[in-house]
Amino acid sequence: MAQKRVLIVGGGAIGLAIGWRLARAGCAAALFDRGRVGHSASWASAGMLSPLSEVQFEEEDLLHLGLKGLAVYPEFVSELEADTGCCVGYRRDGVLLVGITQDDLEYLKFRYRYQRDLGLSVAYLSGDEAREREPHLSAQVSAAVWCPGDHQVDNRHLVRALRKGLVAAGGEVFEEMGVDELLIDGTRVRGVRVGEEVFEGDTVVLASGCWSRLIPGLPDCARPPVRPVRGQIMRLAMTEDFALNTMVWYSRVATSTVAYLVPKDNGHLVLGATSEEMGFDEDVTAGGMFELLRAAWEVVPGVYDLPVVESLAGLRPGSRDDAPILGETPIEGLIMATGHYRKGILLTPLTALSIAEVILERRTPALIQPFGIDRFGL
Ligand code: GLY
Repeated sequence: MAQKRVLIVGGGAIGLAIGWRLARAGCAAALFDRGRVGHSASWASAGMLSPLSEVQFEEEDLLHLGLKGLAVYPEFVSELEADTGCCVGYRRDGVLLVGITQDDLEYLKFRYRYQRDLGLSVAYLSGDEAREREPHLSAQVSAAVWCPGDHQVDNRHLVRALRKGLVAAGGEVFEEMGVDELLIDGTRVRGVRVGEEVFEGDTVVLASGCWSRLIPGLPDCARPPVRPVRGQIMRLAMTEDFALNTMVWYSRVATSTVAYLVPKDNGHLVLGATSEEMGFDEDVTAGGMFELLRAAWEVVPGVYDLPVVESLAGLRPGSRDDAPILGETPIEGLIMATGHYRKGILLTPLTALSIAEVILERRTPALIQPFGIDRFGL
C-alpha cells in the first residue's frame, strides 16, 4: 500500500506529537511552522498537567477529556523517552490551591465542594496543614485544597523530544516556512503552498493554535473559531535554600488574578500566567509582571529574592467554548487539532493518539466526538 502523506500545519507540542505518532506508524509526515517549532505557546507554558485544580464550573466533558489526557501521559512519555533518549521531566508533584482572604476562602470552599461532587480526589487543608506540605508558603495562607493527582512535565523538554522523535522516525520539519495557502480541489484537500512551492498530501492537519483560522484558502465551513488569549509568564532561578516541593496555585479574588508557581528540575521556577484578550500582541508588560509577582509574593514570599531568568508571553488558542476542536471537517482529508486554550500541554498525548486514530484507522474515538468543528454550526 502507498505510504500516506500527511502535512501538518503548526509545530507546537500538538503538531509535533501528531507528526511523531504518524511518522513512527509509517506515514510520510511533513510539518511546517512559521517560526521555530515549539517556540510559541508551548514554550511559554508552565507544563502543568492539572485537570483537578483547573476544573471549571459546568465543563464536565472537558474535565473527562483532561483526566483521560493525564491518564495516557505516562505511557506516551515512556515511548517518547525510549524513542529519543530524552527525559521530558514528568513529575507527580500535586497542586496546592491556596487562599489568604475571606473572599479567597469562600471561593476555595465553593470550588472544593464542586470538585468533591465530581468525585475528584482532593482534600481541604488548614493553613498549617498546607505549610506541612509546602514549607515555603506564607503564614498568611489560611487554607488550601490539595490536588495530589495533578502532575507536570517540562514543556520545553517535551517539544525538543517530540521534534527529535519526529525526525528520527523519518518525518520532515520545515521551520520558518509558514503555509501561505491551503489547497483544496472541490471538497477534498490537496496540499499546501509555501511561497511558490506546492506540497501535495492525502491529509492536512491544522494545528497552528490561535493562527489556525488565518490560513488563506480555508473555507468558512472549516475555519475554526479560535482567538489568541495572551499569557505572560516569568521564570525565576530557585536557590539551594529555596526550592518548592509542590506546584502552588493562587486565585487572588480581590483582583481576579491567577498566579501559579511550578518548580522545574533545572532549578527554574515558572511563574504564570496572565489571561488577556489583546489580539496577537505578544508583549510582556510591566502591569502583567506586577500582578503576577504581587500574587506570587503574597503566597510564597521567598520569591522576592530570586533572580529573574526570563519573561515572555504566549498566545493560547481559545475557542468559543474554550474546548479544543478535534477531528474531521466538511473538507475531506482536512483534520483539526486546535483550540486547546489552557490545556495544550495536558492534551498533547491524547490529541496525538486520537488524531492518529482518525487518520490511520478512519475512526473518530468516542472521547473526542463532542469536540468536533460541527458543534459550532459553521
Ligand atoms: N494552564 C494554565 C494556563 O493556561 O495558564
